[in-house]
Amino acid sequence: MRKIKKAVFPVAGLGSRFLPATKAQPKEMLPVVDKPLIQYAVEEAVEAGITEMVFITGRNKRAIEDHFDKAYELESELEAAGKQELLDLVRNVIPKNINCIYIRQPAALGLGHAVLCARPVVGDDPFAVLLADDLMDADAGQPSVIAQMTRQYEQEGGSIIAVQDVPREFTRQYGIVSGTPYKDRLEKMHGIVEKPMPDVAPSTLAVAGRYILSGRIFSYLEKLDKGSGGEIQLTDGIAAMLRDFPVYAYRSAATRYDCGSKLGYLKASVALGLKHKETGVEFAEYLRTLK
Ligand code: G1P
Repeated sequence: MRKIKKAVFPVAGLGSRFLPATKAQPKEMLPVVDKPLIQYAVEEAVEAGITEMVFITGRNKRAIEDHFDKAYELESELEAAGKQELLDLVRNVIPKNINCIYIRQPAALGLGHAVLCARPVVGDDPFAVLLADDLMDADAGQPSVIAQMTRQYEQEGGSIIAVQDVPREFTRQYGIVSGTPYKDRLEKMHGIVEKPMPDVAPSTLAVAGRYILSGRIFSYLEKLDKGSGGEIQLTDGIAAMLRDFPVYAYRSAATRYDCGSKLGYLKASVALGLKHKETGVEFAEYLRTLK
């Protein structure tokens, strides 16, 4: 079984659900407590042993490249001021053995198209896809969700998609899968459909933004027509691939926060703020005083 060494981060989206905050900055740079969303996703991948981070970017996304690059002025000023702790924080945003690769998606044609843009770098290898606006907070004692999934992949091969149960009225916001129980936390997937209305949704198992995909997905994506929302959908590529090759749905041991929505973002900030070593105790006290 080939190890998963590459992760794709589609970050070209406009973030329109978060305007005006995202007018001049990428939605992936919105902070939850003290780290931007994209850093949480990259750390998840690092924990899984992934070393090649492939960002599919677009206009107005320069801040992401800068975040993972050396910051000469800032570093020399912190050094001169003897602020070692902050200096370490800035220098360790990403470990030294990690390579960041940036590919420009010329037009926002959909998630499937964004993933297809990674083909020249990914080739035939299996790879991970992480959608940074889904912040996945692994259960206590569990590795990151992508690390959980790479372990599953090492046993099963094929492709593995993270899912979670949602209330039926929310099926129209997600890719929805149908499958049959296979092993603990795993279903063998038979179908997947993008954003079905609740009355026709095949189940309430919704795709969360983590995928391990076989390199075969590209040959399905390149043949796709526009799907839901007039976009080239990753979901449609997976639906085509699973007729020929195995795909599994994985119920991750984690809480998912949809940080592309205001409410999800607020929930993530509260949950992670309560866990943070600097803010946790006082923040909990403060929340108790609220009416
Ligand atoms: C995308 C996918 C969808 C998935 C969702 C998870 O939708 O197309 O299948 O369930 O991410 O967040 P988007 O949120 O970009 O509309």
